[in-house]
Amino acid sequence: MKVTVVGAGNVGATCANVLAHRDFLQEVVLLDIKEGTAEGKSLDSWQQAPIDYYSTKVTGITNDYSKTADSDVVVITSGLPRKPGMSRDDLISTNANIVKSVTESIAQYSPHAVIIVVSNPLDVMTYCAYLAAKKDSKKVFGMAGILDTARYRAFLADEIGCSPKDIQAILMGGHGDTMVPLPRYTTVSGIPVTELITPDKLTAIIQRTKVGGGEIVNLLGTSAWYAPGAAAAQMVEAILKDEKRIFPCCAWLTGEYGFKDIYLGVPVVLGKNGIEKIIELQLNQEEKTLLNESALHVKEVMDVLDQMKRVNA
Ligand SMILES: NC(=O)c1ccc[n+]([C@@H]2O[C@H](COP(=O)([O-])OP(=O)(O)OC[C@H]3O[C@@H](n4cnc5c(N)ncnc54)[C@H](O)[C@@H]3O)[C@@H](O)[C@H]2O)c1
Repeated sequence: MKVTVVGAGNVGATCANVLAHRDFLQEVVLLDIKEGTAEGKSLDSWQQAPIDYYSTKVTGITNDYSKTADSDVVVITSGLPRKPGMSRDDLISTNANIVKSVTESIAQYSPHAVIIVVSNPLDVMTYCAYLAAKKDSKKVFGMAGILDTARYRAFLADEIGCSPKDIQAILMGGHGDTMVPLPRYTTVSGIPVTELITPDKLTAIIQRTKVGGGEIVNLLGTSAWYAPGAAAAQMVEAILKDEKRIFPCCAWLTGEYGFKDIYLGVPVVLGKNGIEKIIELQLNQEEKTLLNESALHVKEVMDVLDQMKRVNA
């Protein structure tokens, strides 16, 4: 089993380091365009191995895709992160060029790889990778829902005064302020969350979740990395161990939830073939309206990418 992580910045290096700690892979290849970055972080990770007891070696590479050949899973994190005052959508033109060229190189050397996109704006960069990879959409999808749901679960754990481990939740829609947390599908060790928290507090947590990425950008001057890197690693593990885990992922829809030809966050089953199933929940009218609004926003940004392609064609 071989995994490549493209982009050895905050998110990519964290993802590789989390995978090393899980200790189920021989090697993780970490590739960056900036000379020395991937090599330096990989060496640091290997020097952590005797302390934290793992055997997975992270190998750093500067832009040589032949070293990524025959990867089973590739995580794409290359691209600019947000700065304060920016929306994810502001990154589109720079990151689209990066994601397109990276995906083409990956497709050349690892034609059968499952591709997980992390770069922002997430839904549209996943679409960009899908167009460049020219492969089954079940093998090209994005990481956002696990992170957004984790933020929601962490805020709930603080408010309820319980372990975040005991909070199960699902969240749908685009990776942006229009995301749709679903309190009807949120439980705390099987107890409906509405029995443990007042409606006002729940509404405030949902709002904080929607702008959870921006809260960190304002604190740090760049976007988050521990939780995003760990979320991508969790997807890699589910695929390579064929775990059939159910996660919210950014998936290509072909009629599910009434949407077609769009990448959107929905619950899926992840296994060795990538997305093995998209789960269709019976949403109520209010939830459907929120999901429609989110899909409309994602579609607008996808249209911007399509226009850019026409201009550059
Ligand atoms: N999906 C999510 O939930 C989520 C969460 C956090 C961050 N992100 C996004 O992930 C991306 C990475 O964030 P970060 O904080 O790691 O940024 P970063 O700046 O720390 O790292 C990005 C890395 O990509 C590298 N890079 C740029 N062009 C490249 C190319 N052509 N080939 C290979 N490497 C290249 C850079 O040298 C840099 O090391 C950003 O777009 C960010 O917005 C997404």
